[in-house]
Amino acid sequence: MTPKQYLIFILSGLCADVIKVAGTKSRAKGQGQFPITQNVTVVEGTSANMTCRVDYNDNTSLQWSNPAQQTLFFGDKKALRDHRIELVRASSQELTIRINDISLSDEGQYTCSLFTMPVKTTKAFLTVLGVPGRPEITGFTKPAMEGDIITLTCTTTGSKPAARIQWLRNDKEVQGTTHVNATGKSFTVRSTLQFKVDRWDDGVAYTCSVEHESLPNPYMTTEVLEVHYVPHLEIKHSLIIPQEGQYLKLECVSTGNPIPDLVLWSKDGGELPDIERMIVEGKELTITTLNKTDNGTYRCEASNHLGTSTAEYILFVYDPNALGQHGPDHALIGGVVAVVVFITLCLIIVLGRYLARHKGTYLTHEAKGAEDAPDADTAIINAEGNHMHAEEKKEYFI
Ligand SMILES: *[C@@H]1O[C@H](CO)[C@@H](O)[C@H](O)[C@H]1NC(C)=O
Ligand SMILES: *[C@@H]1O[C@H](CO)[C@@H](O)[C@H](O)[C@H]1NC(C)=O
Ligand SMILES: *[C@@H]1O[C@H](CO)[C@@H](O)[C@H](O)[C@H]1NC(C)=O
Ligand SMILES: *[C@@H]1O[C@H](CO)[C@@H](O)[C@H](O)[C@H]1NC(C)=O
Ligand SMILES: *[C@@H]1O[C@H](CO)[C@@H](O)[C@H](O)[C@H]1NC(C)=O
Ligand SMILES: *[C@@H]1O[C@H](CO)[C@@H](O)[C@H](O)[C@H]1NC(C)=O
Repeated sequence: MTPKQYLIFILSGLCADVIKVAGTKSRAKGQGQFPITQNVTVVEGTSANMTCRVDYNDNTSLQWSNPAQQTLFFGDKKALRDHRIELVRASSQELTIRINDISLSDEGQYTCSLFTMPVKTTKAFLTVLGVPGRPEITGFTKPAMEGDIITLTCTTTGSKPAARIQWLRNDKEVQGTTHVNATGKSFTVRSTLQFKVDRWDDGVAYTCSVEHESLPNPYMTTEVLEVHYVPHLEIKHSLIIPQEGQYLKLECVSTGNPIPDLVLWSKDGGELPDIERMIVEGKELTITTLNKTDNGTYRCEASNHLGTSTAEYILFVYDPNALGQHGPDHALIGGVVAVVVFITLCLIIVLGRYLARHKGTYLTHEAKGAEDAPDADTAIINAEGNHMHAEEKKEYFI
């Protein structure tokens, strides 16, 4: 072996040793030497901590980079000029950074790299939730007219993922039609409710409720419907059987929106014939002393800007003297009273007979004179027929 060959031999041996040592060293270091991260979900406008951990690390450097592959932090050194990003903790085992004032565009896959040979990387997905805007209800005509078909639309913008809209009619759920429209990274959600309004919708609250994972409580917006409708009238009367000389009050009860403020009274298509006895006060008509000549059709009329309505009452004044013969109700009542009296009489007779029979058997063991006595003493005295018994009993009472 020439000295030259010997040198090569020595060098190659040394090389192998170096390679071997390096190999064993890296195997030892390889035990658990890998970066660990977690996915993060945050609401826009807040901040997110991105943590990368290496449980068993020599002083190998860690790095965070954003979805655009730009390095954010290399160890404790800031690499990207973005005032929203700051260092929370940098050690050999951890690199945590914070991104403040998160926007939807920050969403994506972030990479943590550990600069071993080869480099080891792990990904963390940052999910940003878009907060829905307060719902707005449109399509309101105030007031609405009865019979109109109205379409209420509730809109909320900026949610991500798309928010859920729910309609409530006086706190009870009703089904709307929902449309979702992507605007940039967030969504505009619309829900429409179409219906024909009637008078029962007057004063009803329609609420649009928006639910989203970024909201602790749903957002709600309420609109109260106002519906205008033609008046509806009804006459209430104070007497069932009006008789001559009585006092009768008729009230024209009106519903309607707006409520009609004036009620007009008429009789048989003309004016009220007797202003002295027929007094109109607001919605009420009072006839002070009824007379047969008051018979007829009384009508009240009221209007609002949507139209006019009427109600009628037919007055028939009974003659109090003739009521006995003509009043069908009285004949009926008389009949019922007669039947009741008859049944009661029958019962009394039956009961009387029954009692008499029983009393009779009982009395056979007793003195007959006791029957009509007001008290026990006199009963004993009265029962003269039985002297023995009377004396015995008297002793008891002395
Ligand atoms: C981020 O980490 C810091 C420091 O550990 C902590 O004070 C803060 O609450 C964390 N923020 C979030 C959003 O987890
Ligand atoms: C890491 O570096 C520090 C000083 O910077 C040193 O004291 C420590 O021993 C090193 N650790 C390893 C495992 O190399
Ligand atoms: C993190 O998010 C990504 C993308 O959404 C997903 O594919 C992955 O499974 C998530 N990892 C964990 C640990 O949840
Ligand atoms: C989304 O909304 C815009 C504006 O309101 C509208 O022009 C577009 O047609 C909508 N797209 C869909 C798919 O509804
Ligand atoms: C009814 O009216 C007539 C004529 O107006 C009058 O003669 C009569 O006395 C009235 N009857 C009563 C009970 O008031
Ligand atoms: C009114 O009704 C009474 C019934 O009580 C009847 O006798 C009378 O003739 C009626 N009068 C008119 C004017 O219709």
